[in-house]
Amino acid sequence: MELISTKICKTGDIGVNNNLFGGIMLAWLDEAGGILASNACCNHNVITLKMDEVLFKLPVKVKEQIRIYGEVVKLGGTSVSLYLEARRADLANKSETVVCSTKMVFVRINSEGRPVAIKSCLQENQ
Ligand SMILES: CC(C)(COP(=O)(O)OP(=O)(O)OC[C@H]1O[C@@H](n2cnc3c(N)ncnc32)[C@H](O)[C@@H]1OP(=O)(O)O)[C@@H](O)C(=O)NCCC(=O)NCCS
Repeated sequence: MELISTKICKTGDIGVNNNLFGGIMLAWLDEAGGILASNACCNHNVITLKMDEVLFKLPVKVKEQIRIYGEVVKLGGTSVSLYLEARRADLANKSETVVCSTKMVFVRINSEGRPVAIKSCLQENQ
């Protein structure tokens, strides 16, 4: 899996139980997924179609660094399926622990917001 982005949990990101608010994590995953999907489609015009089950396995606290990793699971006709993991970085031990994971599907769209073939975009850029 490749590292897509690194985030830090700030005081403003905390929910009512002193953990990172889940919606913030969803936004981080959505952004990272969009970057990975854009790169896979060699095009900025991708949109989130689907987020599968999201498992918030461990809490995230203020000051913790969260690294979002991902990989392309499937490149379809117009869609790209991804697997994403958010990992907490232990800076002292140089280790990482998975705190959250999900699968996502993005679709390459044209200027009208309709699906457009990924293959043609790959050929255009060769
Ligand atoms: C993304 C969008 C343009 C797709 O339009 P659509 O009419 O559903 O498109 P299609 O039925 O042609 O499917 C497009 C691709 O998505 C895939 N797809 C459709 N429904 C799917 C589902 N439930 N699960 C997985 N893939 C799915 C199709 O298989 C196809 O991929 P492929 O060409 O690689 O086989 C449209 O659903 C949309 O605009 N959604 C809103 C997106 C949005 O606003 N996202 C921001 C978050 S709110």
